[in-house]
Amino acid sequence: MLDALHKHETAARRRQLADLIGEDSIAIVAAAPQVKRNGDGHHRYRQNSDFFYLTGFNEHNAVMVVAPGRAAGEFILFCRDRDPDRERWDGVIMGVERAGEWVGADDAFPIDDIDDILPGLIEGRDKVYSALGDDFEFDQRLMGWVNRIRARTRTGALPPSEFVALSTLLHEMRLLKSAHELELMRAAARVAVRAQTRMMQKVRPGMMEYQLGAELAYELAYANCEEPYTSIIGGGKNACILHYIENNQLLHDGDMVLVDAGAEFQCYASDITRTYPINGKFTGEQKALYEVVLAANEAAIEATHAGQTFQVLNELAVKVLTEGLVDLKLLKGKVDDLIESQAYRRFYMHSLGHWLGLDTHDVGEYKLDGQSRALAPGMVLTIEPGLYIDDGVDVPEGFRNTGVRIEDNIHILPNGIENLTADCVKSVADIEAIVGQDADRK
Ligand code: GLY
Ligand code: MN
Ligand code: MN
Repeated sequence: MLDALHKHETAARRRQLADLIGEDSIAIVAAAPQVKRNGDGHHRYRQNSDFFYLTGFNEHNAVMVVAPGRAAGEFILFCRDRDPDRERWDGVIMGVERAGEWVGADDAFPIDDIDDILPGLIEGRDKVYSALGDDFEFDQRLMGWVNRIRARTRTGALPPSEFVALSTLLHEMRLLKSAHELELMRAAARVAVRAQTRMMQKVRPGMMEYQLGAELAYELAYANCEEPYTSIIGGGKNACILHYIENNQLLHDGDMVLVDAGAEFQCYASDITRTYPINGKFTGEQKALYEVVLAANEAAIEATHAGQTFQVLNELAVKVLTEGLVDLKLLKGKVDDLIESQAYRRFYMHSLGHWLGLDTHDVGEYKLDGQSRALAPGMVLTIEPGLYIDDGVDVPEGFRNTGVRIEDNIHILPNGIENLTADCVKSVADIEAIVGQDADRK
């Protein structure tokens, strides 16, 4: 998938990283290891997001190095040699020569030679940038390479004096998406919208949650996408379990279902939540609760723009939700007091959203100097207020065990926003018009 544009971009990212770390430093990033599932089987391979961002290379057992100012070239790739016997079983290995050329490396070496070569690249550099703490085994190997240099200090070898977390620099770069990344994110959003729409059309009382999940799986597979995270399909009270992933219960007539499901397209995520009545018609209480969450979702999106902060958006959502909870008599007291005492947290216990990109909960700081940072063009975030009503005796019966979340993906423009998930219906009227329209009623 590494087209010319992507190749140009990964090269520019490495160049930017080289400038940021400087010539007294080296950056070392490992590909994600293959993860065993059970027995002889592995999970489908997913590349490490940092490694992918800097190379576009999708094989395991690889390491990339940025060595600013190195005479023979700054970008070095270590990867697997071709191996016809292995390839008969596991598929094509690109091989050192082809992979090096494909990713635009200045030098490429067999991964089996890394112990002999990498210490020489590190030697003489003061700082080693890496993803400390991400991959214990790789951290240990890195220490091993540095120790080889330390063992030779008496003969003049210069070991590095500092290990630095690469994330500080690289994740700030990842926070601002390029035009090409945004194309991929739009595609990921389109597939998720299609999948969410299909589920709304297909749902009917008596279905199992996983059967609704089959409709999602169809759309993702059809578009060559993966689940960016394990999808949540929670009918009735299951919607109140924030990370419900069993998805194995019956969808009852009269309940709502909460579906938090996105699509990962070429490693970029979308992340949508919709909540709707399984039989296609909101009850009075469901509608009232839904309208409060929708108002919070819309108010927060309306207030999203460059220069705005997550903190202000969160405060706005909390205000709308708390006012709604008072109107619905789920909370009693003055709105300001209920916000001050955080009484709303009984029903709204998560934050408003997160960065979105190569990772669903994408990288990048939320605060700078202790303050919620200003949104800037190129950032992509989710807006996902929710209310989750427990079965307390003080809760009117029609609201008990009901959960609603409405989640959209927003790209910050210089002037205004782009809602990447705007085509996923969410008004009460639109939902009632679509839910169950294509249900196979037997
Ligand atoms: N699906 C994970 C989240 O909404 O944050
Ligand atoms: Mn979500
Ligand atoms: Mn989310």
